[in-house]
Amino acid sequence: MKLLHLDSSVLGPHSVSRQVSAAIVERFRQSTPDIEVGYRDLTLEPLAHLSGPHLAANQGAAPEAALSDDIAAGRAVLDEFLEADIVVIGAPMYNFTIPSQLKAWIDRILVAGKTFKYGPDGAEGLAGNKRVLVAISRGGFYGADTPAAAGEHLETYLRWVFGFIGIRDPEFIAADGIQVGPDHREKAVTGALKAAGDLKAA
Ligand SMILES: Cc1cc2nc3c(=O)[nH]c(=O)nc-3n(C[C@H](O)[C@H](O)[C@H](O)COP(=O)(O)O)c2cc1C
Repeated sequence: MKLLHLDSSVLGPHSVSRQVSAAIVERFRQSTPDIEVGYRDLTLEPLAHLSGPHLAANQGAAPEAALSDDIAAGRAVLDEFLEADIVVIGAPMYNFTIPSQLKAWIDRILVAGKTFKYGPDGAEGLAGNKRVLVAISRGGFYGADTPAAAGEHLETYLRWVFGFIGIRDPEFIAADGIQVGPDHREKAVTGALKAAGDLKAA
């Protein structure tokens, strides 16, 4: 069993989403001691933005020599993703959505013919054989009954992206209201860590 663990917070040891994603991974290590865990810190080794030459190379054009590292990095993250049985992602909310480092990763794994294809009935996901768990942390509150609900483009975006490639039921553990105050932060983190520890991991 292979687990791919990704983090995308720029806040290093102060990050909430990193703490919660690590707790999710720990839960899987406990339940499956021989699980193979691969880790990628998307902030330490950021992927480049997509470029026209990169897309052309994906479609068979001979890549420019200067692009070879970029293409190799893109292939490596796509292969890691395709090989994983479980994917755990730490995803903070920055400016109402995912960090750009995580977006750069998504741009490398949404590849026609690999994770989705277009057919007579529209798009079809090809990566439905995985369990995806996302640890999200948000400074405020974005529940359906809150005034900020329309500004929520983190969880809603990730649900759509993973659904598009065939993962119909990505799981989210949220720590919300992190910027509201220290008491609230502690309560949110404790709740998220408990949810991680209670996960059905077998
Ligand atoms: C650059 C930046 C942008 C942020 N933008 C938002 C935002 O749009 N909405 C929000 O609720 N919180 C926002 N926050 C607060 C974070 O979502 C919150 O601190 C969360 O814990 C970040 O996750 P992390 O601790 O794993 O980095 C922002 C924080 C930073 C550093």
